[in-house]
Amino acid sequence: MTKIAVFASGGGSNLQSLLDAQAAGLFKGRVVLVFSNVPGAKALERAEAVGVEAVALASKGFQGNREDYDRQVLGICQAKGVDLICLAGYMRILTPALIQPYLYKMLNIHPALLPKFGGEGMYGHHVHEAVIKAKETESGATVHFVTEGVDAGPILLQGSVKVYPNDTPETLAEKVLKVEHLLYPEAVRLFCEGKVKVEGGRVKVLP
Ligand code: GRF
Repeated sequence: MTKIAVFASGGGSNLQSLLDAQAAGLFKGRVVLVFSNVPGAKALERAEAVGVEAVALASKGFQGNREDYDRQVLGICQAKGVDLICLAGYMRILTPALIQPYLYKMLNIHPALLPKFGGEGMYGHHVHEAVIKAKETESGATVHFVTEGVDAGPILLQGSVKVYPNDTPETLAEKVLKVEHLLYPEAVRLFCEGKVKVEGGRVKVLP
């Protein structure tokens, strides 16, 4: 049984989709930890509501550098025997202290079709604003492995939505989020079934 930690800094609707998918038996894994860098984040409440351990370590005012912070987070994950980390709206850029021990065992969901509209500064409404400004006719969501380049790791799954001329960042965000809620549980299912391999920097999904 794959032990999963979900990291979230905000509302946690993707966390909820994973918890719901787990309850529906969609994947052979168990969320054993929800972690946030923001004490009081709604995601923590969602975890507690279903009896999942919720841990917060405030990044604001943390005494130490980013690596020190990530080393503490690593310790928390290792103590719970976490096999897979799912970033779901976790608003921090990670350091190698956490990325390396969980290389190809850490996923992120991004609200665009990477490699387009990714990288530093491309988060939340910034992404959807940029998509509309670029007059794209298609956007979507991407689940990818976390490596040291921001939003640059091997892509596991993507789902697309149409962008219409009358779309606003808000309407686009809503459509993309719906796709995210289907995509992330499916990515976790594939991972938990051991069907995901990374070879030469590319994801291979086994039949
Ligand atoms: C999602 O749009 C996700 O793609 C991005 O952050 C957002 C998190 O939303 N990484 P929520 O907290 O899961 O509702």
